[in-house]
Amino acid sequence: MQAAVTRKAASVTDYRALAKARLPHFLFEYVDGGSYDEVTLRRNVEDLRAIALRQRVLRDVSAIDLSAELLGKRWSMPVGLGPVGLSGLYARRGEVQAARAAAAANVPMVLSTVSACSLREVAACGHVPWYQLYFVKDRGFVSHLIARANEEGCSALFLTVDLAVPGSRYRDARAVGGRLRRAAEVLARPSWLWDVAIRGRPISFGNLEPIVGKSAPLADFQRWIHDNFDASVSWKDVAWVREQWKGPLVIKGVLDPDDAREALAHGADGIVVSNHGGRQLDGALSSARALPSVANSIGGKIPVLADGGVRSGLDVVRMLALGADFVLLGRAWAYALAGRGEAGVAHVLKLIEAEMQVAMALTGCASIAEIDEALIDRR
Ligand SMILES: Cc1cc2nc3c(=O)[nH]c(=O)nc-3n(C[C@H](O)[C@H](O)[C@H](O)COP(=O)(O)O)c2cc1C
Repeated sequence: MQAAVTRKAASVTDYRALAKARLPHFLFEYVDGGSYDEVTLRRNVEDLRAIALRQRVLRDVSAIDLSAELLGKRWSMPVGLGPVGLSGLYARRGEVQAARAAAAANVPMVLSTVSACSLREVAACGHVPWYQLYFVKDRGFVSHLIARANEEGCSALFLTVDLAVPGSRYRDARAVGGRLRRAAEVLARPSWLWDVAIRGRPISFGNLEPIVGKSAPLADFQRWIHDNFDASVSWKDVAWVREQWKGPLVIKGVLDPDDAREALAHGADGIVVSNHGGRQLDGALSSARALPSVANSIGGKIPVLADGGVRSGLDVVRMLALGADFVLLGRAWAYALAGRGEAGVAHVLKLIEAEMQVAMALTGCASIAEIDEALIDRR
């Protein structure tokens, strides 16, 4: 059964199955899981999938243009790889592989603060990613991270604000075992052991080595976040970042129209409507539900990005119809990376592009600009 899936991954769901088969159990649970009862994680997927699109006919869709502009550049489609922590462990030097796939597809990638590969290592592949920043308590170190992003030539900074404290994740708590159990789970996945744990060394947080050291605190990652992330962070810190970062600043993790207006007032150049993939406040609205009112509150003044539950090109079109200008993938690309490395990420991007083409053709849209709320069938 698994071999058949391996040969014929045709969707993000297939890549999830591949990721499950390939990653040690504790790592798959980390990628796949959400917080508490995973209500918001499920809502993200289900609310988006429940959006009915209006089928339209006879509108000459022989030439469809998927390209879209964001933050000063034209991309092949309004889709990017969002920041996913520890993705360098899903495949050997995973963030570099993902960046190569993103470069080949001409889509942006946002590198997580808690990536395994450092920004320098990823940038060296020729596709300098955008950089995602978390606030740790040591502000000197936050300044250092911003300076590093500047030095590497990152053209945008994504400040993630929905993780003042980490949401409890039952699945992670259950999956965390002692050394022996962890070793047994690794031994049960020999191809991952060889590819990542042995040939993919060092296993560290490339960007955080100055404060964490050479070995990532994997055994108790949530605890480490709890101890080191800064719960006192507030809008005045956004102003503090703004002073140090002169390029585009995107606030990631906005779900409420009032917060969207604050972001605008504090000089954000974009926002990401997101609940961290259902990994933080369980019970929060899905991104799909929150998006229209947040987009309305921004009123087209800055780009509105969205993520959460996107598993296909149809889902991308749905997010655009709900008011997003650009869509970020999370687990969709992480599963693909775990399943088949760079080739998997490249394949998922191709699938999404092809699915968008079909969705746009059958809803009568020849360009991204034509996608709006009129595409949603409310009958
Ligand atoms: C395993 C995992 C790690 C993540 N790490 C980060 C991170 O380091 N920084 C961040 O801003 N968001 C992080 N996110 C959130 C994603 O950027 C994105 O908001 C979310 O995955 C979207 O939901 P989806 O995966 O259902 O598409 C992570 C998500 C997952 C699944």
